[in-house]
Amino acid sequence: MLATHIDKEAFMTASNSRPEAARAQARHPEGESTAAQGEEEAQAPRQHVLPPLPYSVNALEPVISAKTLTFHYEKHHKGYVDKLNTLLAGSSLADLSLEELILHTAGKPQNAEIFNNAAQAWNHTFYWHCLTPQVAGDVPPALGRKLRESFGDVAGFKREFAQAAVSQFGSGWAWLVADGPALRVIKTPNGDDPLPQHLRPLLTLDVWEHAYYLDYQNRRADYVQAVLDRLINWEFAAANLGE
Ligand SMILES: [Fe+2]
Repeated sequence: MLATHIDKEAFMTASNSRPEAARAQARHPEGESTAAQGEEEAQAPRQHVLPPLPYSVNALEPVISAKTLTFHYEKHHKGYVDKLNTLLAGSSLADLSLEELILHTAGKPQNAEIFNNAAQAWNHTFYWHCLTPQVAGDVPPALGRKLRESFGDVAGFKREFAQAAVSQFGSGWAWLVADGPALRVIKTPNGDDPLPQHLRPLLTLDVWEHAYYLDYQNRRADYVQAVLDRLINWEFAAANLGE
């Protein structure tokens, strides 16, 4: 089941200081670090964990191969989580949630390594849930209406999203975000994401080469189009509207 896990402790903490960002994070699925549970663990330092994939590694074939998904999840995503835990060992930031880390370290050169790994840990979990082997026939009505208001129609959204994904120079991400009542497409470089901009992410696509190179080599546009046509989890994007 998607979009059901909300780290309420992190949500409430962030809500007190950054309400827009707290709303943006509210639907992030299972990607949260796990605060210790139960009294006997209450004093244990927070360990960020690699959440399970929401499907098997071959579920997205032939658009994304099992080989790509295995490397992407078990090497790259896991690598960000492990590196983050190493960086945070003994740090004053060690008890912060992923979202809190992202907001706290964004734009601070002295914290760039923590920011990059925290954001990449968050982004990847969000990305896995943006994909599904069981694409629904129609975009849910509330999301469809908003897409039409902002992009003319669903096809118009796909064109703008694909343009952002293909034109991102080097590594990065394309996003569909809610900016107040309007929807926008943005792109972010490297590990950056919409949370520091206080935008609510609805959908993302990883355009780092590790996301597609084994399957598509340099043909990023083909990867982007195939995902848009066959793997988008519209139900997840609609749930992220929070309406
Ligand atoms: Fe990635």
